[in-house]
Amino acid sequence: MNISTEAAVTPAVYGESDRPPRGDYSRGGAVLADYTCPQDWASYTPADHDTYRRLYERQAAQLPGLACDAFIASLPSLGVKNRIPRFDEINERLYKATRWEIVAVPGLIPELPFFTLLANRKFPVTDWIRKPEEFDYIVEPDVFHDLFGHVPMLFDPTFADYVQRYGQGGIKAHALGAGEKLARLYWYTVEFGLIRQPDGLRAYGAGILSSVGELQHAVRSSEPYRLPLDLLRTMRTRYKIDSYQSTYFVIDSFSQLFDLTAPDFTPLYNALATQPDIEAGTLLPGESVA
Ligand SMILES: [Fe+2]
Repeated sequence: MNISTEAAVTPAVYGESDRPPRGDYSRGGAVLADYTCPQDWASYTPADHDTYRRLYERQAAQLPGLACDAFIASLPSLGVKNRIPRFDEINERLYKATRWEIVAVPGLIPELPFFTLLANRKFPVTDWIRKPEEFDYIVEPDVFHDLFGHVPMLFDPTFADYVQRYGQGGIKAHALGAGEKLARLYWYTVEFGLIRQPDGLRAYGAGILSSVGELQHAVRSSEPYRLPLDLLRTMRTRYKIDSYQSTYFVIDSFSQLFDLTAPDFTPLYNALATQPDIEAGTLLPGESVA
């Protein structure tokens, strides 16, 4: 399994699977009804902080020319680089910037609580960090993936509004039994999205930005297909969880993303019910790469 994709798995993707949570949900009753919990910062060991520092250093060095401008501009807002940040410290800056906040969760949470947190401008961040022996390989998102990959983008006002709108749409999709289809949109935007900037293609998806190998693959490799983002096409497309993506979807701006998700998706879900899924890495007749 590859770190880049496995580390990007989100609660929305796995939903209410029977996959056991990596985090400790018991915590003597410390987990709240909305699946959040306090960040137990004091329990991090020196080795935990060192793992975070080394991951941050390696990944930050890769960003120029590959990460989008919004991400690079906001990365310093995470604050300290040499230890796991306290979520409260980040929240002081994040709330001022976009009225979002991050909340600690013990691990993957079910679909509906996940959508509900996003709809309320609360982004769930896993609080534990991988062990040193998992430096290049981890099966679930940890605090590095969630903080480094996701949080800088929440400082961008338009993107932040999109994520809230996604959560609101998710609550509706859950009621309609369409959560799995909508999860593909999250996967191909929030996790593995690419944006065309005036100076070239760049990554804005957290699964790419927090991956040691997929950043180059997603932005530079000639192997994957890169298609313009189309809602129906994206939600028909399966994704890979055990290798780099073979299909990416490209946007021109975050406003485009926000505007695309303004309408009610019910007609889209009806259309999706009549159309077969498309395997990742497939080009349909008449399609051309972005
Ligand atoms: Fe993620």
